[in-house]
Amino acid sequence: MSKISEPLATRHSQILGVGDYRPSRVVPNSEIVDLIDSSDEWIRERSGIESRRYASADESVVDMSVAAGQKALTAAGITADQLSAVIVATVTYPFQTPSAATDVTLRLGNPNAAAFDISAACAGFCYGVGMASDMVRTHSAEYVLLIGVEKLSDFTDPTDRGTAFIFADGAGAIVIGPSDRPKIGPLIWGSDATAREAIVMQPSWLELRNPNGLGNIGWPDIKMQGQTVFRWAVYQMAPIGLKAIEAAGITVDQLDVFIPHQANIRIIDAMTKAMKLPEEVIIARDVRVSGNTSAASIPLAMAALYDSGEVKSGQLALLIGFGAGLVYAAQVVELP
Ligand code: UT7
Repeated sequence: MSKISEPLATRHSQILGVGDYRPSRVVPNSEIVDLIDSSDEWIRERSGIESRRYASADESVVDMSVAAGQKALTAAGITADQLSAVIVATVTYPFQTPSAATDVTLRLGNPNAAAFDISAACAGFCYGVGMASDMVRTHSAEYVLLIGVEKLSDFTDPTDRGTAFIFADGAGAIVIGPSDRPKIGPLIWGSDATAREAIVMQPSWLELRNPNGLGNIGWPDIKMQGQTVFRWAVYQMAPIGLKAIEAAGITVDQLDVFIPHQANIRIIDAMTKAMKLPEEVIIARDVRVSGNTSAASIPLAMAALYDSGEVKSGQLALLIGFGAGLVYAAQVVELP
C-alpha cells in the first residue's frame, strides 16, 4: 500500500512586521454619556477608557484590514504576492460568506492566497498567531498575514449602559514567517463554553428574517454580562498567562512586555498583579484611547508601543486574548 510522505522537518516561526489602522474619528466619553446616563468620570474610573475611535459609515472591516495589512507587509519587507495565507480574526464582518479574508487578499493584490476568517472574538488574534505559527512551522505556509479587525460600532447599541462606552473600531496586523530559532512560544488556549451566554450578539439572522410575530426585534447588537466576564477575566486569565510563560521556557523575570486584550484597565492591572509581573515589565494600556476593539486590540496595542518608543525588537512579550465564548489564548512572542 502507498504511504503519504512528509519530507520536511518542522521549522521555527517569527513575527516579521506589525501594522495598524486607527479610524480618524476620535470619540470622547462626552459624546457617549448622555444616551446611557453616565459620566466621563464613571467611565474612566470603571474602565480606564478616555476616548475611542469609530470608523465612518463608508469605512468597512475590509478597508481597515487592507490598510493595516499593507503597513504590516511593508514593515516585514514582504510583498502581497509572497503570502501563502491571509487570516482575518473578526466578529463584525457583516457577511457570513465569502470571508473577509478573501476580499482582503484580493484587494492586496494576491487573489490566490489561502484565505479564511476566525470567529474567536477577543481571543481571535492570539488564536490566529498560534495557527499561523503552526502553518509556517509545518510548511503549510511560507508567509501568513494575520489581521485582527473590528467595526464594533456597527453592532453596539448606543443606549446600552453595559457596552456603549466600551466597544470601538480599528485594525491591527502582523506577518508571520520562517525563523532560524523559536520566536513564537507554544499556544495555551481553550474555552469555558458553559459561560457562552455571557457575551452574545442577538437576535440571530433567522429571527430577523422571520420574527414570528415578535414585532420589531431589533438589530443584532452585542450584549454582555459585564460583571461575570470581569470576574472570569480577573481570576481565570492570570494562570493562563503564567502557563504561556512557562511553556515558552522563561520566567516572569525574563519577560519585557505584557500586551493583554484591551478590555478594561482594571482587568489589565489585576492580571499584572496576580501574575506578579516585575515593575520593569512594560504594560500595554492602549484601552485608554482605543476602547475595546476585540480581535484588533492586541495588535493595535502592540503597534502603539512601537509608536511611543516603549518597546524594541528582540524583547519578549506575553500576549493574552479572552472574550465571547468564553474563549482564551496566550503565547509569548519575540517582538520583531
Ligand atoms: O472584550 C470582551 C471581554 N469583556 C470584558 O472583559 C469586559 C468585562 N467587564 C467590565 O469591564 C466591567 O464589568 C464594565 C466596565 C462593563 C462595568 O463595570 P462594573 O464595575 O462591572 O460595573 P457594574 O456593572 O458592576 O455596575 C456598577 C454600578 C451599578 O450601580 P449600583 O447598582 O452599584 O448602584 C450600575 O447600575 O454602576 C452602574 N452602571 C453605570 N453607571 C454609569 C452600570 N453601567 C453604568 C454606566 N454609567 N455606563
